[in-house]
Amino acid sequence: MKDSIAVSILDAKDIKEFLNNLEKIYNNINELNVKAKTLDSIIHFDIMDNKFVPNTGIDLKYIKEVKKLDFYTDVHLMVSNPIKDGYIEKAIKYGADSITIHYEIENFDEILKYLIKRKKEIKQKENREISIGVALKPKTKNNVLKKYISKIDKVLFMSVEPGFGGQSYIKETNDKLTFFRNENKKIILQVDGGVNADTFSELIRREVNSFVIGSYFTSSSNYNELSDKFLLLNSMYTIEKTPRRANLKLDTSTLQVVPGGYGEHDILLGINVPDIRKCAMVWYKFLNNNILEFFITSKYHDYRRFAIFCLINKVSVLYKKVINNKKDKISQKELKELFKFFENNLKSVNNWDLTDVAGPNILAYNLYLLNEKQRKKKVYKYLNNKNIWIKRVGIVSMLNFVRNGNIKLPLEICEYVLYDEFHLFQKATGWVLREIYKKEPETIVNFLTNKNKNKKLPTILLSYACEKMTNQEKDKIRKEGIEV
Ligand code: DX5
Ligand code: ZN
Repeated sequence: MKDSIAVSILDAKDIKEFLNNLEKIYNNINELNVKAKTLDSIIHFDIMDNKFVPNTGIDLKYIKEVKKLDFYTDVHLMVSNPIKDGYIEKAIKYGADSITIHYEIENFDEILKYLIKRKKEIKQKENREISIGVALKPKTKNNVLKKYISKIDKVLFMSVEPGFGGQSYIKETNDKLTFFRNENKKIILQVDGGVNADTFSELIRREVNSFVIGSYFTSSSNYNELSDKFLLLNSMYTIEKTPRRANLKLDTSTLQVVPGGYGEHDILLGINVPDIRKCAMVWYKFLNNNILEFFITSKYHDYRRFAIFCLINKVSVLYKKVINNKKDKISQKELKELFKFFENNLKSVNNWDLTDVAGPNILAYNLYLLNEKQRKKKVYKYLNNKNIWIKRVGIVSMLNFVRNGNIKLPLEICEYVLYDEFHLFQKATGWVLREIYKKEPETIVNFLTNKNKNKKLPTILLSYACEKMTNQEKDKIRKEGIEV
């Protein structure tokens, strides 16, 4: 069975309308046919008796409605007497696919035995599978289930006190899940309460299989907002299910994710660049800026990388459309919005690996679409920014120009930042000069020789700029008495 989002309809304002929207979104996501791990969507029914919990929940009869829409129905019985008050039999009669009772009810053993017996009977008589779940309240210890695990299909961890939607996720649940999953590799784990885009990733990392989500969805006022949330969670799921193959030790040092380093507050998940690019390649067509906003502002470096690669893919497709068809106003508008979105989120492009892909592959295309004056104005705005990363984006954007044989502006930019003291700029500028050298060696050798005459050039810049030079060319520059 695929991992699933279990949508709790408890707080839906208009259940029928909400279910119709869900059905459209569910079909839409399936039609996207995303070539990556995504989630199934099932419907979670919170049934309450106003005894076990001080609330009345929703009516079991909705199971019949939902069965018509062909959704899997996941019934969560927050009731004291599931047999005596008829809840189990009604749920079975309406076609429930999964029935979960609470461990904390009286006569739990006897009721579980009854449920297991009924499961067997239904299988024999109707050849219908019913999954049996046991729910634990937040304060109930994991190990109470030890002797039942082999008899049940699923454990539901309440991450809020049962009874109401819209509560905050109880963080201690994470440790309970880690501990339980270490002890029980196979059984289906479901978490219920306060699950949303911010608490979701930690659950996936703990190998949770089913995520009950209520108010995060039912609080959405319209179809698009609801659809965005499903796409966000599904794309996050793809990322989180991507193996951790990066060299974390190396990345931590090169990105300086260390106290006092320029990446000190960053968090690396350990997904390597090819894999995160693959995630972006799979998802970028389906994620709009609202969704990308979540990723590009994330505390996880890998999520911000994902967002930037999605933007790069979008820019590359749209730029070609705009260049090939001057009348394509829609693409022009979308591209303009992308550039604006990128600039509104520049503070998240905050390490050299992010700037070095964003500069040549996003900013550069923005600059191409401007006239000479606007272009210079924009790039100098980047170069004069106090934020070191924004400045670096401006410098490395010139690599795209050099690659396309345009070296006038890049050379002017290099001259403007030539004597900058900060090593990250010297490397970036040296890199651009090296690429110009590959196109016009003489220009660069003369340029550097002349510059050296006036004032000693920064060593790091020179080492990058002269990397591909012949010894004669280096000697020529060295003649000015400066070690290269
Ligand atoms: C609470 C229910 C949950 C709740 C989830 O007793 O069991 O399923 O509806 O709602 P949110 O996601 O809003 O916490
Ligand atoms: Zn529930």
